[in-house]
Amino acid sequence: MTGGYVKVTTHPLVFGLLRLYVRVLNITPLKDSYHRPIRDLRVSVTDRCNFRCFYCLPHGEPPAAPKSQMLTYEEIELACRIFVRLGIEKIRLTGGEPLMRRDIEILVARVAAIDGIQDLALTTNGYFLPDRAGKLKDAGLNRITISLDSLNPERFKRMTGVDVLDRVLEGIRAAKRAGLEPIKINSVIVRGHNDGEVADMAQFAREHDAQMRFIEFMPLDSGHDWRRADVVSGKEIRARIEERFPLVPVHMSPTPLGSETATRFRFADGAPGEIGIIAPVTQAFCGACSRIRLTADGQIRTCLFSKSEHSLRDVIRGGANEDEIMDFIRAVVWRKEASHNIGSHAFVQPARTMSLIGG
Ligand code: 5AD
Ligand code: SF4
Repeated sequence: MTGGYVKVTTHPLVFGLLRLYVRVLNITPLKDSYHRPIRDLRVSVTDRCNFRCFYCLPHGEPPAAPKSQMLTYEEIELACRIFVRLGIEKIRLTGGEPLMRRDIEILVARVAAIDGIQDLALTTNGYFLPDRAGKLKDAGLNRITISLDSLNPERFKRMTGVDVLDRVLEGIRAAKRAGLEPIKINSVIVRGHNDGEVADMAQFAREHDAQMRFIEFMPLDSGHDWRRADVVSGKEIRARIEERFPLVPVHMSPTPLGSETATRFRFADGAPGEIGIIAPVTQAFCGACSRIRLTADGQIRTCLFSKSEHSLRDVIRGGANEDEIMDFIRAVVWRKEASHNIGSHAFVQPARTMSLIGG
């Protein structure tokens, strides 16, 4: 009778059903083993950066990897298309400085045209925006995030290594003019540097109707100078803002909502602008994390602080078909780590800095 059983399971109809089952699996969103749906992909398009932010790349980039190791625009587009098929809704292009990669508008246009993508954003230091904001908008970019750590030219230079505050402010204005709104602004707050400027930055958000994002300093700097004592907690950041501008939570939840990383506030007096506080060190939000990352050289990182990477580049270049690529991505995402453990003594800083991982 066993033979008969084998015969039934190998029947073409059963194969058909199996294939259908796999296809059904393929339209369910990516999930990890902690049941977190993965919806956000951050794609670093280059390791290069023209800034030297001390919390990221104080001594400049490591020697450039051979160009042949970098994903081409065709490969990035293919990867993004497959990720979107797997349920990714939001894609953010990052770097390094993404506008350092030649003709990034071409990639923006290709990714924006992917069927099913809901949101395409880009994080930049703002330097190239005066000339490029309009082109990015025309290419199909939906949103932009600009780093701005200080409104004081001297301090800006000390924190970023370059004396270009005015140009970045012009970049912010250009992004607004181009309609890349709402403008989001990232500010990494570090004790003894810009912690006294938090309320001024909130004032900037009010004046420019911007969404400020104050970020706790994370151990991702290539200089390995991060100290716990340099972290200004999200709680302290909020208190410093509220000394001048009382805030009202946007949501009732005291912690970030859903997969958001920021706890969001608006101004109690109804002024324009928004405040978001991102506190990965003092208030880890890993439990709701919906992100994965693709580095410029084609490695999937399932966490900013991952100790291992998975080469999507080798899989793509090895000639895998789309179904095989999907299987690879599913298997990698399934093993996403539970959390980063920055607070624990066992924490080990990852070898790659933010500029190589992509914020
Ligand atoms: N800690 C916190 N944020 C960082 N960024 C870069 N390095 C760090 C760090 N060590 C942020 C920058 C940039 C984004 C891509 O990553 O503010 O906006
Ligand atoms: Fe460049 Fe951004 Fe890193 Fe600053 S934080 S060095 S702008 S990649």
